[in-house]
Amino acid sequence: MDQFVIQGGSRLKGTVRIGGSKNAALPIMAATLLAEGPCVIRNVPDLMDVRTMSKLMGELGASVTRQPDGALRIVVEEESNSHARYELVSQMRAGICVLGPLLAKRRKARVSMPGGCAIGARPVNLHLRGLEALGAQIELQSGDIVATGKKLLGASVFLGGPFGSTVTGTANTMMAATLAEGTTVIECAACEPEIVDLADFLNAMGARVSGAGGPRLVIEGVQRLRGTEFAVIPDRIEAGTFMIAAAITNGEVALSQARLDHMVAVTDTLRQIGAIVDASDGGAVVSSTRRLNPVDVTTLPYPGFPTDLQAQAMALLCLADGNSAITEKIYPDRFIHVAELLRMGADIRKEGPTAIVTGVKRLIGAPVMASDLRASAALVLAGLVARGRTTVQRVYHIDRGYERIETKLQALGADIQRVNDKDSQ
Ligand code: EPZ
Repeated sequence: MDQFVIQGGSRLKGTVRIGGSKNAALPIMAATLLAEGPCVIRNVPDLMDVRTMSKLMGELGASVTRQPDGALRIVVEEESNSHARYELVSQMRAGICVLGPLLAKRRKARVSMPGGCAIGARPVNLHLRGLEALGAQIELQSGDIVATGKKLLGASVFLGGPFGSTVTGTANTMMAATLAEGTTVIECAACEPEIVDLADFLNAMGARVSGAGGPRLVIEGVQRLRGTEFAVIPDRIEAGTFMIAAAITNGEVALSQARLDHMVAVTDTLRQIGAIVDASDGGAVVSSTRRLNPVDVTTLPYPGFPTDLQAQAMALLCLADGNSAITEKIYPDRFIHVAELLRMGADIRKEGPTAIVTGVKRLIGAPVMASDLRASAALVLAGLVARGRTTVQRVYHIDRGYERIETKLQALGADIQRVNDKDSQ
């Protein structure tokens, strides 16, 4: 198993290219199951989750190949198997995104119930509500969701849950509705840029989706969808992580191919903390003054502050000059990183879904354990600024969502090495 060994203290300086969005690419890959003919998708990051999704697509009869120019070519060759197995869906919850396309195109789907993960319970009731509204029959058999629907019919459905809308639930319902007969209206749809990207992709295939980016999606069903070419949006969470890396190391980092317009809450929060964020042509430049101000951060559905940057923001606020309150309104249990940051000398007190972070003068390097993808990124950020050596174990979590993070950080001047556990003993 690989680990990162980080020697803290380097100021990051230079330019980093932000890759394509993982959370846009995965549902778009699933949506190719709807197409008749090949799809070519550009700017798909080379990540563990993308490889897992490629494997799943392969089992579902699609051929997925990386072309010499880096684009992913996906063509569905046969449709006899519609079973997304537990072994794959349990590795990557976005596997649930094949449910809507399989049901719409093949009229049946069997997808393993994903179950919980390190960030909380993560139910799928809203996905099922969306598909049932379109007329699907759904039952649970041996831990699998079995959905059938000879004919899907357009309908109105409300996808709000206790923590707001659902991103992949909106994706599943929208994808299924593209081939339903009649018009579907999704109220309280997720407004995330990844949903807009998926809608753009579906429209490029010949679908008729309008309203993406707002809470009301209207989908007029069509008879068939064709293959198309498409480029995925930049990853706003990777971009935010590098912005925080610049701020925490008192550095100056230019992001290329980043979409600042997708990151308004993050930019606002970083500016309140004291970072300087300037838009540049095709990206942004982030630098920081020595002093970090405490702020209160509440994670919310888009356009609010993303839960996927909560842990990284916490690492930064550990060094602010005062108390910050970080409240998690999407995943109230997404705080596993707190215990690890405490091992590095942070001062954090948890009260329900809120963490009170009292800034300390310095963090101290320590062996820490990655638990989920974004928590691991937070530990790497803390390691970059900690005094001495930090080892982050189980970095396979970070490989799920960040492409070569250590190489990108090294190019900015960070002292970070990937070593195999065995090599380091
Ligand atoms: C997506 O997960 C992302 N994953 C997550 O990114 C991200 O944290 C999350 O959206 C929130 O922004 C992908 O896009 C592949 P939700 P998703 O359904 O769609 C509750 C990362 O680090 N809910 O929008 O699974 C749920 O419990 C990952 O890249 C229901 O109650 O999240 C949560 O509180 C992790 N019933 C809230 O809604 C449901 O049926 C939002 O979850 C579905 C969700």
